[in-house]
This record gives sequence, C-alpha cells and structure tokens, in this order.
Amino acid sequence: MGKEIAEQPDAVRSTLLDRRRRDGTIVFDELRISDQELREVKRVVLVACGTSHHAAQVAKYAIERWARLSVDVDIASEYRYRDPIVEIGTLVIGVSQSGETIDTIQATREAQRRGARVVAISNIVDSSLAREADAVLYTRAGLEVSVASTKAFVAQVAALELLALRLAQLRETLAPEEIDRLLEGLHGVSGHIATALERRADVDLVAGQLLEAHDYFFLGRHVGFPTALEGALKLKELTYLHAEGYAAGELKHGPLALIEPGVIVVAVTTDAHMHEKILSNVAEVKARGATVIAVATDEDDQIDAVADFVLRVPSTEPMFTPMIDIVPLQLLAYSLARGLGRNVDRPRNLAKTVTVE
Ligand code: M6R
Repeated sequence: MGKEIAEQPDAVRSTLLDRRRRDGTIVFDELRISDQELREVKRVVLVACGTSHHAAQVAKYAIERWARLSVDVDIASEYRYRDPIVEIGTLVIGVSQSGETIDTIQATREAQRRGARVVAISNIVDSSLAREADAVLYTRAGLEVSVASTKAFVAQVAALELLALRLAQLRETLAPEEIDRLLEGLHGVSGHIATALERRADVDLVAGQLLEAHDYFFLGRHVGFPTALEGALKLKELTYLHAEGYAAGELKHGPLALIEPGVIVVAVTTDAHMHEKILSNVAEVKARGATVIAVATDEDDQIDAVADFVLRVPSTEPMFTPMIDIVPLQLLAYSLARGLGRNVDRPRNLAKTVTVE
C-alpha cells in the first residue's frame, strides 16, 4: 500500500498523458463514442462502489459545474434494484478500478437494457466492465494490488474531470480560455500530490499522538465531502476503528450529538469558497471538546487558531483538491494502522475485488 500511495503522482500524470491536441481539443483515443453522441447527452448517472463511488461523487460536482448537465450518483447495488428511469440522452458511467465488481457490472447491464449508453472508467484494460460498455476511458494508475484503493482514486478523479471538461468543450459551457486554464491546473496536480507526499513525517507525528483514539468524524463541504467519505473509508478499512464521513453542513442535523472529548474530527478545509463555513463547523466541534485535525492549504493563516493539528497541502483549484487532500488522509490511516499493528495490505474480512453480491 505504501508503494501505491507513493505512485500517485505518476497515476495522475499517466492518466492525463496525450489527451490534449495542439489546438486544445481534449481527446480520448479509446472512448469509442462520437462527439455528436456526447453533445446529445441530457443527463449523466454515475454508478460505482466504495472508493470508486467517492470518485464518482467528485465527478458530479465537476460535470454539473463545468458542463451544466444534471448528474446523479448511485451506489451500484442500489441502482440495479431500484427500477431506475433511463430517458433518451441518459449517459451512464460505470466507475471501477478492477472493472470486475459484480454490482457495478450488473448496474451498467441494467442501464444498457433500459437503453442508456454506457461508458466504463476502468483501470484494467479489457476488464468485463470495459468489454461490455459502449465506450471505455482507461485510468492508467498501473496495477493496484493493495485492498485499500489509493492510486486508483486519484486517477479516477483525474479521468472523470477530464471527461467533464470534454463535455464542457463540446457543449460550449466554458470559454476555451477557461478550459485551457483548468487543463493547466489539472496537469499541475501530480506535482502537488508529490509535495503532499513529501510531508509524510508531519502525518506520522500526528498519528503517533492518536493511538488511543476510537472515534473519528471526517467532515467536508463541496468536493471536500467525498474526500471526507474516502478518508473515513480508508481509516475504517485499515485500522478497524469507528470512522464516519459527513457533509459538514449536516452536523447540526444529528451527528453533533456524538461529539465529546476524546472524539477526533478530521476537517477538510481547503476549498476557498467554503472556507468560512467549514471553519464555523470546526469551531462547533471544538467547543464540544473534540480534537481537530485540519487538512489546510499552505496559505491558510486562520486554521492554527481553531485546530489542534494542521496537515498542510499546496492550494489549487477547488475541483482538484480531492486528489491532493486525500494524500494526508491516506497517510494518516496508513500510519495509524501500522502503529496499531494492523496488516495494511491484508485488512480483515475484505477482498480486493468483490465478484459476488
Ligand atoms: O474495483 P472497484 O473500483 O469496482 O472496487 C470497488 C470497491 O470494492 C473498492 O473501491 C473498495 O471500496 C476498496 N477496498 C476501498 O479501498
């Protein structure tokens, strides 16, 4: 797992390689879906499980914001039994590292049966999902063997955001200069991930002080929300401790009752647009005695006053933050698990690929 965490800059770089022509057009060689078909898309539904579902949730924000298309994200095992509505112009995107997860395959089959065009986002070339879909966009994270998915997540977000920009290009919902600016930013992400990885020692120091803790809440807003969900999933899988991810705005609607001394709150605070709101959520949990770990940008000069521990990351376009912010959260789960004597490569009860329902 440590090796795969370290490979994340390459996973993003490779996934983005050769996807842009000189004139700025975004190209997907293996997408096998025409520009006209993409232009005619009226609604997008993403189906996936686990970490891939969190990457899909990030994509919802990007596709809606940039391509102005309505997007639903479904847990694959819920979609297939829900009698879903597939209207003309529905594009279903199945997201799966392995391309062999049975729930995701069955969900996309159901969508195809109802007339949807299906795009697979797969890390494994020629996987079942890739073969059955109408089109495929490969992430190029390289083989991921550790049960806890890490580099596949950042590669999936990169691929999905590139697809979101292609949809925006075709639908002319963003100016060409804005697309160029965002593409430049996207290409800068692997460097920022490398910087976050260099700060591993800071994470180890924090983890070393938390070995007695049992309850974790991960909070985020906007794309920080799926990042929080993914951070909580990593912690659960690797440490077997109680961890929950929440949209920070939901705190007051129930979970705040669980905050007391001894509870650890991990807050993703990097989104500049939501900064004030998330700081107020941090203040709320702090006032109730929680220990706060904040993932914050290098520029954030307010966070030290409200958080007990701060894990710094380079700042970037809000939409790209999940690929960078997840790094300290992966490292935190990894470091805590090692400190607690868990086998990070073989978490109990879990398989790398879930091929049964
Ligand atoms: O191969 P897939 O992306 O379809 O796998 C989906 C989930 O089983 C997977 O992401 C799982 O949640 C990981 N163990 C998370 O680390």
